[in-house]
Amino acid sequence: MIKGFIFDLDGVLTDTAEYHYLAWKKLADRLGIQLDRKMNEQLKGISRMDSLDRILAIGNQMDRYTLEEKEKLADEKNEDYKELILEVTPNDLLPGIANLLADLRAKDIRLALASASKNGPVIMERLGIADMFDTVVDPATLAKGKPDPEIFIKGAQQLKLKPIECVGVEDAQAGIESINAAGIFSVGVGTKEMMKEADYAVTSTQELKLEEILKRANQ
Ligand code: G6P
Ligand code: MG
Repeated sequence: MIKGFIFDLDGVLTDTAEYHYLAWKKLADRLGIQLDRKMNEQLKGISRMDSLDRILAIGNQMDRYTLEEKEKLADEKNEDYKELILEVTPNDLLPGIANLLADLRAKDIRLALASASKNGPVIMERLGIADMFDTVVDPATLAKGKPDPEIFIKGAQQLKLKPIECVGVEDAQAGIESINAAGIFSVGVGTKEMMKEADYAVTSTQELKLEEILKRANQ
């Protein structure tokens, strides 16, 4: 019996994935590295420093910077990103999400956030949904990021539920892997190809209907 939902943030509740891309793109351009939207798919769900490492690898610049310099580069990206998210309002909830959250609350289903983003709590406030969530996994406490299951296992623990009592919702391949490895029912938002490992996949957030998800997850 499903009693909790554990959500990814970027690309599921709101489209900050685009802001992450724009901020990384600006840094990549400055470093003379070609980053396009296709490569950006591989950055979804990945922590800030891991994303930077992947971008430097694309440009064959892995050994060019010390850890301290890399931290500066990641900070630079984050400052640009924080500027971009100042624009976020409740209108930026992705289609269907406001209804889904309301339906979940009406059924007393507990909600957790499992985002790798350290900016998650600020974005939730800006979206006006912070109060609807029971708990947020602090990404700073994680030993390993997605695709490791740790973040979703913690989400279930913080909800005081077993993994089989939860549903996880993700738009990233690494995120679906993480949910599956945690023993949680995975719902994927994205193309069939990208979401082929998900227990249930839809192509847009608009199609995330609570009854449909529960029917499948409770089987
Ligand atoms: C999410 C996004 C990634 C982002 C990561 C860290 O997982 O999908 O694109 O890099 O969070 O976000 P942060 O806000 O902490 O830099
Ligand atoms: Mg995401």
